[in-house]
Amino acid sequence: MRVLVTGGAGFIGSNFARLLTSERPSWEVVVLDKLTYAGNPANIGDLRVFDGFSFLQGDICDRELANGIIPACDAVVNFAAETHVDRSLAGADDFVRTDILGANTMLEVVRRHPRIRYVQISTDEVYGSLAAGSASEDTPLNPGNPYSASKAGADLLALSYHRSFGLDVVITRSSNNFGPYQYPEKVMPLFLTNLLEGKPVPLYGDGMNVRDWLFVEDNCRGVLLVLEKGVSGEIYNIGAGNELPNIQVTMMILEAVGASKEMIRYVEDRPGHDRRYSLRWDKLAALGWRPRADFAAQLAITAAWYRDNRAWWEPLKSGEFREYYRRMYEGRRGYSEATPASG
Ligand code: NAD
Ligand code: DAU
Repeated sequence: MRVLVTGGAGFIGSNFARLLTSERPSWEVVVLDKLTYAGNPANIGDLRVFDGFSFLQGDICDRELANGIIPACDAVVNFAAETHVDRSLAGADDFVRTDILGANTMLEVVRRHPRIRYVQISTDEVYGSLAAGSASEDTPLNPGNPYSASKAGADLLALSYHRSFGLDVVITRSSNNFGPYQYPEKVMPLFLTNLLEGKPVPLYGDGMNVRDWLFVEDNCRGVLLVLEKGVSGEIYNIGAGNELPNIQVTMMILEAVGASKEMIRYVEDRPGHDRRYSLRWDKLAALGWRPRADFAAQLAITAAWYRDNRAWWEPLKSGEFREYYRRMYEGRRGYSEATPASG
């Protein structure tokens, strides 16, 4: 079995490639990644010792490149995407290009080699904000921001290739992942690393937006199960049942690193901020999947990882990230770096 893992130098893709090297040691794992700001060779540095592992730097929108790689594979798992909602609100060109056109490029190549299984990695955000209840796989799509609209576009394309041409397509839609190797723009690593640096944490709006927190290893095991056992043409939600308002997660993060609630800054909200995501995942559970541990234990593992791996994240928070942080936060209503002690 040879699997192409696109976006495999990013957060979830690198965790998935690592899972494959340990759980499916006889497989060949080919990572294709453009190495955007979010892609990091250090995320997969430890995997290079495995004989079956290889890395190629390249763009999923590059048809010629895809034609050269995909036909020799048995499956494509497409993690590659622009993924940060706040960046999509600042400008969506890269999101439309990679998330939609990139997926279409992969699908066009797979179309010529229909024995290849194509797994599209999607998100619970495509269902949009839910006032009540939980989304099942047939809940209508209602994406609320340019990122989730682009992801919904890719899902619909993938399903259309299944229906029109019989491609062996499966889709996973997961909730918010957290864990090792997450780029520190996302809320969990941003808050953990800010606190480890003695900086405050910028909480959007009233802090009552709800997300369902899924440990990245649980998600990766779900993706592997869908790759191996998912029914062609089907969608599988992956949630965890850890629906929590952001303020509660923030309080748990503060506790995990021994910081006080004085470090919270309530800042101007994200435009169009989706209030609540919620998933049903009984379809995946029927294949035998369960989250492995509770949220508090997984958060403790995550906090310890960021505490012990400063050499991984400190370089990421310098350079381009400083400019991003200044632009995104420092002029924002409610943001201040002053602590009560410093005035
Ligand atoms: P990430 O931003 O950490 O990683 C994305 C990776 O894709 C990076 O390594 C980047 O270099 C690569 N990439 C970007 N554009 C590319 C291109 N044109 N060609 C090749 N590589 C490219 O993202 P993540 O959080 O690991 O998310 C992975 C996937 O999972 C995405 O499809 C995302 O939509 C989906 N997802 C993420 C979450 C989450 O909570 N993080 C939840 C649900 C779904
Ligand atoms: O739900 C799945 C999605 O989860 C994925 O598809 C996306 O790729 C991933 O980025 C994530 O999107 P969110 O927008 O939910 O994640 P983010 O970490 O940006 O924000 C989580 C919550 O925390 C959200 O309600 C916004 C809030 N937040 C975020 C940041 C960055 C803050 O309050 N302050 C912040 O500084």
